Amino acid sequence: MISAVYPGSFDPMTLGHLDVIRRASKMFDHLTVSVLDNKAKNALFSVEERVSILEEATRELPNVEVDSFNGLLIDYARQKDIHISVRGLRAITDFEYELQIAQTNRKLSDGKLDTVFLTTSLEYAYLSSSSVKEIASFHGDISQCVPAFVAKLVYEKYGRIDE
Ligand code: PNS
Repeated sequence: MISAVYPGSFDPMTLGHLDVIRRASKMFDHLTVSVLDNKAKNALFSVEERVSILEEATRELPNVEVDSFNGLLIDYARQKDIHISVRGLRAITDFEYELQIAQTNRKLSDGKLDTVFLTTSLEYAYLSSSSVKEIASFHGDISQCVPAFVAKLVYEKYGRIDE
């Protein structure tokens, strides 16, 4: 059985994340989507809220589990006996950052945690959680960026409740 972890901040989960989750869930027997519980980061959604959004969005994917972690990814992966990390690559601008994380994880884990990159589907290549938050903060339209139930939650955070 091949298991993989898809780690990230998911603040909030976007349609781009969901696309990676759906595709990775077909490649591996089991996929754990895990939210980084990074207290230092000023997140819009709590870890519990982010986990709950991911659970709702992946409800129809039976081999996908949602979890959270803190500390190093390699330690979390070792505890769960997972040897593959999945990350999405949108554009060349992601590459340097992702390469650094992937190399660090492989080195720190003595080769036990490798990274598989999925190129983001073109329709989501422009998407990021940061831009979703910025657009929503100005009460702009995020309906193309996140599922409808997530858009509602994001707008609520910014005091727009008419969507
Ligand atoms: O969605 P993000 O914020 O781009 O995800 C980044 C993430 C969570 C994959 C990365 O920050 C991470 O794995 N952090 C955990 C700490 C860690 O293991 N750091 C070592 C790699 S540099």
